Amino acid sequence: MHGDMPGVQYVCLPDAQAVGVCAADWVARTLQDSPQAVLVFPTGNTPLPMYEALRHRPELDWSGTRLFHLDEYVPPRDARRPLPYETYAEYMRRELWDVIDGQKHYFIQDVDEPTAYEARIAGLGGADLVILGIGVNGHIAFNEPGAKPDSPARRVALAPATILSNFKALNKPGYPTHAVTLGLKSILSARHILLLATGQAKQQVVRQALLECTPPDADLPASWLKTHPHVTVLTDFEV
Ligand code: PGA
Repeated sequence: MHGDMPGVQYVCLPDAQAVGVCAADWVARTLQDSPQAVLVFPTGNTPLPMYEALRHRPELDWSGTRLFHLDEYVPPRDARRPLPYETYAEYMRRELWDVIDGQKHYFIQDVDEPTAYEARIAGLGGADLVILGIGVNGHIAFNEPGAKPDSPARRVALAPATILSNFKALNKPGYPTHAVTLGLKSILSARHILLLATGQAKQQVVRQALLECTPPDADLPASWLKTHPHVTVLTDFEV
C-alpha cells in the first residue's frame, strides 16, 4: 500500500477476488460506523467479486441503510416487455439487493427526471460511500470524457464503444441508446469514494487519471477524483 496523492490511497491486491473481499470489508466498516449509511453501488464486471463477498456476510445489518446505484439505461420508447437486456435495477437485485434489507432506491423510477434521483441522495445528507468502477476511457458511472466536476445527474447518449462493449452489437432492436447517470457533483460530494479497478486493461487509465501529477482534466473524468479528500483505489495490479 502506498499513497502518492493527497486524498488518494492505493491498495494493490493479488487478484480481483481479493479486491472484492477488500471492497466488501470497506462496506462492512461503513455499516458498522454508520448504521443508516447512504451507499451508492456500481454495476459492471469489476464489482461482481465484491457482491459475492457481501452475499457471504449474513452478519451485516443493512436494515437502516439507504441504497442507491450509479446509473441506469433508458429503455427505448418502443421496447417490448420484458426488456431484452438486463437493467441495472435487475443487476442490483440479482447481485445484492434481493438478499439484504435496507431502503432501496432504483434509478429506473427517476429515468425521466434524473436530477430527482440525485436530489434524494442530497436530501439524505449526501452519500457516505460511493463505489465506482472505471472505464478504459476514464469514465466513472456514465460520466464520459467531457464531464465537468459540477455536472448534475443527467441523460446521456451511450458512446458506440459502450454499446458494443455492453450489448456486443450496435443498433439492436429494443436495446437502449441512452442512459441516466449520477453526475460528478454528487459523486464528488461523497464522504468516501472507493474505486475498484482490476485487469491489466485498466492499469494505464488508473495511472493517467490518478497518479500523474497533472491537473484534473475533463477528458479523463476519473481525474477529478484527485480533488477529493478521501479516495481509496483498490487494484489487482501495481500502480
Ligand atoms: P467494468 O465496467 O467493471 O465492466 O469493466 C467499469 C465501467 O465501465 O465503469
